[in-house]
Amino acid sequence: MKRSKTGPTGIVQVSSERGRKVNVMQMFDLTDQVAVITGAANGLGYVIAEAMAEAGAHVVCGDIDTDGNERTAERVRALGRSALAVRCDVTNEADVAALFEQADKEFGRVDIAFANAGIADPVPGPVHEYQTEHWNSVLAVNLQGVFFTDREALKIMVRQERGKLINVASMWGLAGASSVFPIPAYNATKGAVVNLTRELALEYAPHNIQVNAICPGFFRTRLAGGAYDDPDFVAAITAFTPMDRVAEAEEMKGTALYLASAASSYTTGLMMVSDGGCMAK
Ligand SMILES: NC(=O)c1ccc[n+]([C@@H]2O[C@H](COP(=O)([O-])OP(=O)(O)OC[C@H]3O[C@@H](n4cnc5c(N)ncnc54)[C@H](O)[C@@H]3O)[C@@H](O)[C@H]2O)c1
Repeated sequence: MKRSKTGPTGIVQVSSERGRKVNVMQMFDLTDQVAVITGAANGLGYVIAEAMAEAGAHVVCGDIDTDGNERTAERVRALGRSALAVRCDVTNEADVAALFEQADKEFGRVDIAFANAGIADPVPGPVHEYQTEHWNSVLAVNLQGVFFTDREALKIMVRQERGKLINVASMWGLAGASSVFPIPAYNATKGAVVNLTRELALEYAPHNIQVNAICPGFFRTRLAGGAYDDPDFVAAITAFTPMDRVAEAEEMKGTALYLASAASSYTTGLMMVSDGGCMAK
C-alpha cells in the first residue's frame, strides 16, 4: 500500500510506506506545479498546455509563433492558472536558457518540462536526393532543440532533486517510415531522441527525476504544413493505422498527464506509444 503526503509546495508525493491509501485521482493532480512546454503555440503543445492547466499546473509556454504562444497562455489563464508566454527558438541555446530562467524566476521551480517543439522534413524524399540544408534544419529543431531543452530543465530539476522530463519523440523513432513516406531526417532525430531519453532516464534516476518519451502516431496538427488537410495523405496514413483513423490532438492529453504526474512515479525510460496500433504490427 502506498502513502501520499503533501510536500512543502503542495505537491502530492507518493512513498512506498505501507498503511495508507492514496486516491488514484489525487495522483493525477498537478495543483500549483509548474510546467514548461516548448512548441506550445499549436497542435500537441497547445493541448498539453491545456491538460497541464486543467490538472492544476501553471504553464510557461515557449514557441517561435508568438501569437499562438500568447493564445495558449490565455487559455491557461482562462482555466484559472498562471501562464507566461516566452518567445523561444529551441535551436538557439540562449533562448532556451532564458525560457527556463524566466520560469524559475517567476515560480521558483520547474516540476515538469515537455521538449515538444518539432518540425517535419521540409521536402520528404530518399536520402540520395536529400539536401544538406534540410537535414540540418530538422536536426537543429528536433535533436539539438531537445538537447538544449532537456539540459536547461535538468539544471533546475537536479537542484530540486525532483522532476518530470518528457520528450516528444515519435513512433518513427522506433521504426522506419519509408513504407508510408521517406522522412529520413525526421526519423534520425526521433530515433536519437528515443535513445537520449533512455540515457537521461539512467543518468537522472538517482536524482528523483523521471525522463520519459511520448511516441505519437498520426495526430491531426499543423505538422508537415497542411498535410492533414490532404485527403490522399490522410487516406494513406489511415490505411497504415490498425485503428483505421487519425487521432485528434486532444487525445494526447491523457498520455501527457500520466507522464507529468505522480501516476507515473515509478516509470522512467519509457517510450510511451500512442499510435492507434501502428507499432504493434
Ligand atoms: N502530429 C503528429 O502526428 C505527430 C506525430 C509524432 C510526433 N509528433 C511530434 O509532436 C511534436 C509537436 O508537433 P505537432 O504535431 O503539434 O506540430 P505543430 O506544427 O502543430 O506544432 C509544432 C509547434 O512547434 C513550434 N516550433 C517549430 N519550430 C520551433 C522552434 N525552432 N522553436 C520553438 N518552437 C518551434 C511551432 O511553431 C508549433 O507551434 C513534434 O515534436 C512532432 O515531431 C507529432
